[in-house]
Amino acid sequence: MNLPIDLRSDTVTKPSPAMRQAMANAEVGDDVAREDPTINRLEALCAELYGMEASLFVPSGSMANQVAIKTWTQAGDEMIVDLNAHCYNLESAAIAAVSGVQVAPVEGKRGIMTAEQVEARIRPRNVHHGPTTLIAIENTHNRGGGSIYPVETTAAIGEVARRHGIRLHLDGARLLNACVEKRVRPTDYTRHCDSATLCFSKGLGCPVGSVVAGPREFIERARRWRKVFGGGMRQAGILAAAAIYALEHNVARLADDHANARLLARGLAEIDTLDLNPDEVETNMVFFDCRRTGMAASELKQRMAKAGVLMYDTAPYRIRLVTHLDVSREQIIEAVGVFKRVLMSA
Ligand SMILES: Cc1ncc(COP(=O)(O)O)c(C=O)c1O
Repeated sequence: MNLPIDLRSDTVTKPSPAMRQAMANAEVGDDVAREDPTINRLEALCAELYGMEASLFVPSGSMANQVAIKTWTQAGDEMIVDLNAHCYNLESAAIAAVSGVQVAPVEGKRGIMTAEQVEARIRPRNVHHGPTTLIAIENTHNRGGGSIYPVETTAAIGEVARRHGIRLHLDGARLLNACVEKRVRPTDYTRHCDSATLCFSKGLGCPVGSVVAGPREFIERARRWRKVFGGGMRQAGILAAAAIYALEHNVARLADDHANARLLARGLAEIDTLDLNPDEVETNMVFFDCRRTGMAASELKQRMAKAGVLMYDTAPYRIRLVTHLDVSREQIIEAVGVFKRVLMSA
């Protein structure tokens, strides 16, 4: 069996030989001068995929989110996000550091906020408050367990946003996981949003890259902030070629990752001391509580790593496992076996 089995994240995937070939063949130019034909093609493809006027290629999902937040807001504004949102918790406090924006967190269920919760957090327009100018949702929701935003909830939040003159940003790093699982189009979600991102370096298997999409005028301003952040790249068409390859070859197969995640969850649920509900696995992430093993998550993580299965601890007793295109069904079955052996010998 191929060890280690790396279930830490879908960001660990490596470009396949066919993707590398597509990268090697890419036509390139200076993208700061907008002369990279492969990036121009990718940006047009992504704008179309999301039903938006334009899109912008950026180095990372974090930059995609933070460029959008910077472009939509002014220092002293407030934005509404779920308490566990990636852009709020895992992007190095960039909302504060880069945009000077205050966060109004909402406690969503598995990361999913309701329109009522969001509306209740909108500040009245008076001198005592920073204006609420942005709402951000995340689909699929990482810390929520790979959970999927229902299309109706997205529509309802979009309606609240429009009624109050507030922008709605979608962190769609893994939006295609939601689309494949629910058999809906990206535009079923994005048509309710003002801007949306997509990451290529997660389940889609690319080495680098994300896009942010939105109205043309917004993307023009975002392009300037990308340059300010140091994200203006030159002959990066080799990276865009990987993204185009991924859109053409690696989308439908996300369903395999979801099936593997369910298989993994069912296997782990058989282990008495692990607490998880396999029915909560919606896409490619499995979270469980390890308190009853008598081990902290960090210790269990170390023991499992020694036995050849890698994973992340996300809280003192919480572990996250992520399936992706570099992990096979056989490796998932093997990983469950390793769990059983490690926990029996503990
Ligand atoms: C939901 C979500 N948004 C944004 C990001 C940021 O992506 P990157 O690591 O490319 O900055 C991640 C990364 O895992 C994520 O899970």
